Amino acid sequence: MKVTIIGAGYVGLTTAAAMAYTGHEVHCIDKDTELIKELRKGNVHFHEPGIIELLSMELSLSFGDWETFDRGSDLIFIAVGTPPKSNGDADLAYIELAAYEIGRRAANVAHINVVIKSTVPVGTAQKVQSIISQVRLKSGDMDASVTVASNPEFLREGAALFDTFYPGRIVVGSESSGLIDMLDKLYKPILTQTISPPAFLPRPKKTITPAFISTTTASAELIKYASNAFLAMKISFINEFAGLAEFLGADIEDVAMGIGLDRRIGPEYLQAGVGWGGSCFGKDIGTTLATAKKYDYNMHLLEATVMVNNRQREAIIEKLVRQLKEIRGANIGILGVSFKPETDDVRDAPFLAISRMLHKLGANVKAHDPVAVSNCMRKHPQLPVTYCNEPEEAAENADALLILTEWEQYQTLNYAAIGQIMRQKLLIDGRNMLNSEQMRQAGFIYIGVG
Ligand code: UDX
Repeated sequence: MKVTIIGAGYVGLTTAAAMAYTGHEVHCIDKDTELIKELRKGNVHFHEPGIIELLSMELSLSFGDWETFDRGSDLIFIAVGTPPKSNGDADLAYIELAAYEIGRRAANVAHINVVIKSTVPVGTAQKVQSIISQVRLKSGDMDASVTVASNPEFLREGAALFDTFYPGRIVVGSESSGLIDMLDKLYKPILTQTISPPAFLPRPKKTITPAFISTTTASAELIKYASNAFLAMKISFINEFAGLAEFLGADIEDVAMGIGLDRRIGPEYLQAGVGWGGSCFGKDIGTTLATAKKYDYNMHLLEATVMVNNRQREAIIEKLVRQLKEIRGANIGILGVSFKPETDDVRDAPFLAISRMLHKLGANVKAHDPVAVSNCMRKHPQLPVTYCNEPEEAAENADALLILTEWEQYQTLNYAAIGQIMRQKLLIDGRNMLNSEQMRQAGFIYIGVG
C-alpha cells in the first residue's frame, strides 16, 4: 500500500520504518526541514535501539516537507505531537494544522483515508474529519469524501520497534468498515508474522499472537488513555504498598511476586521505585482528568495515582534527610538522568524533580547518565547540576549516592571501590536494582524502596 505519515517524530518515524519493512511504500512528511535533511542521511534525532539499523536497510521509505505530499496515498497517518497545555488538556494545534494541510493538498482527490496515530482526546477523529471536509468543500470539492480512523500506538520508548513488530493488539476505531478492512490488510504482515521481524530485535520470551480490535473512533481513542492510566495506576499501587511495607518490615519485591503470579493481576508494572515518568503517563492522565472535568466527573483513582507518584520522589528526599540529618552543603551523586533505561528522554524523569528538591535544600548535585546528559542539558539548561562522564565521578566525595534509573551498566559497577571514594557510604537505590546484602557487605548503608 502507499502510505503517507505526517510527523517524523518518535511515533511517526518508528511506524514509518516498520511499515516500510513490512512491504509498504512509505513517505514521511515533517515541517522541520533540518530534520528531514538529517533523516535522509540516516541520522536520527532520538536514541532508540534498532532504529538506525532499520533505516539503513533497503526500504521503500522517503522523507520530505509538505510540498512533497502525495495525493495518491491509500492511507494518510497523522503522527504529530499533542503537547500538554497548562490545564492538562492536549494541545491539538499540530493535529488541526495537519488536518487543514491534508484537506488543502488533497483537493480534487475523490476520497481520502486519514488515520490518527497521535494520542488525542476522545472526539478528535471526528474533529479532524470535519476540518478536512470543510477545507475540501471550501475549495469547491463538492463530491470529495474523507473517512477517518483512530489507531493508537502502545510503544514503550527503548522497546518501540519490538513493540511494533510484536504487539499484543492492534486497535482500530472507525465508523467506516472499509477503512477498518484496509488497516487490517496494512497490518497483516505483523498480525500473521508472515514477514519475520528484523533479526537484530530481541525475540519475545513466549509466542505473541496479536489481536486485531476494531471498534468506534471514540472507544479506540479512550482505549489509549485507559491503557496508560491503568499501567500508571498499577505502578502507583505497588509504590503505595512499598511505603507500607517499609513500616511493617515486609519486602515489596516478594509482595509484588506474590500478587503478580495471580493470573488475574499479572507480574508486569509492579516494580516499586521512584515512580513513573516519561512523555505519556503524566500527560495522558492530565488529559483524561481535564476531559472528565468538562463533564464535572471526578476520577478519584487517577488523581490518587498522580499523588502517589509525586510522593515517591519526595520519599527519596525524606530517606536522605533521615540519614544525613542535614542536606545543606551535602554532596549528592545521582546515577540515572533519563526517565528509564535505553532512552535519552528526560520528560517527567524523577531526576528532574529530585535534583530540584535537593538544590532547594542546599545540596550540591553531581549526576551521571550513559546517554541522556546532553539531551537534559539542552532541555533544562538551568538545572543546577554538575554532570559527570563516569559514574565514579558522581560518587567522588559524595555523602550519598542515589540510583534513579536502572541502567544495566550500574549493575556491574565496583561498588566496594566506589564506597572508598565517597565521604559517607550511603546508597539509596530508587529502582531496587542492586543486591542489598552485597551492598551491605561492601560497607554501605543501603536503602531501597519498600
Ligand atoms: C508507556 C506505555 O508503556 C506505552 O504503552 C505507551 O504507548 C507510552 O507510555 P513509556 O513511557 O515509553 O511507555 O515507558 P514504560 O516502559 O511504560 O515506563 C513508564 C515509566 O514507568 C518509567 O518511568 C518506568 O521506570 C516506570 N515503571 C515501569 C515503574 O516504575 N515500574 C514498573 O514496574 C514499570
